Amino acid sequence: MIGRLNHVAIAVPDIATAVALYRDALGAPASDPVPQPDHGVTTVFIELPNTKIELLEPLGEKSPIASFLERNSAGGIHHICYEVADIAEARDRLLREGLRVLGDGEPKTGAHGKPVLFLHPKDFNGTLIELEQA
Ligand code: CO
Repeated sequence: MIGRLNHVAIAVPDIATAVALYRDALGAPASDPVPQPDHGVTTVFIELPNTKIELLEPLGEKSPIASFLERNSAGGIHHICYEVADIAEARDRLLREGLRVLGDGEPKTGAHGKPVLFLHPKDFNGTLIELEQA
């Protein structure tokens, strides 16, 4: 059911420092930072030949990554995102398998402007998984 690895998201305390690391030390092209108030994060995408790295910095008072950064002050891998052809079909299949979809189960518009869902990390080996409709 799942397709390509769309991105690996890394929560960072300071996005400018993280971008400089990827751009200057690793030689990777980086997008401009995009504040996403609806998601409580500022994002930068690092384009790699086969996938993307999504750098996430907290934005605003109630950022969904604030508690993660409290536990991981240097940052860390926050989630990985797999593409699916049909997100509603993917959700229904996962629910039938007894797996948990976070929130109300309805896809939301993600950082790429496409429908996304998140799956409970306790059901997936301690990894927060984002599904994005390709
Ligand atoms: Co993501």
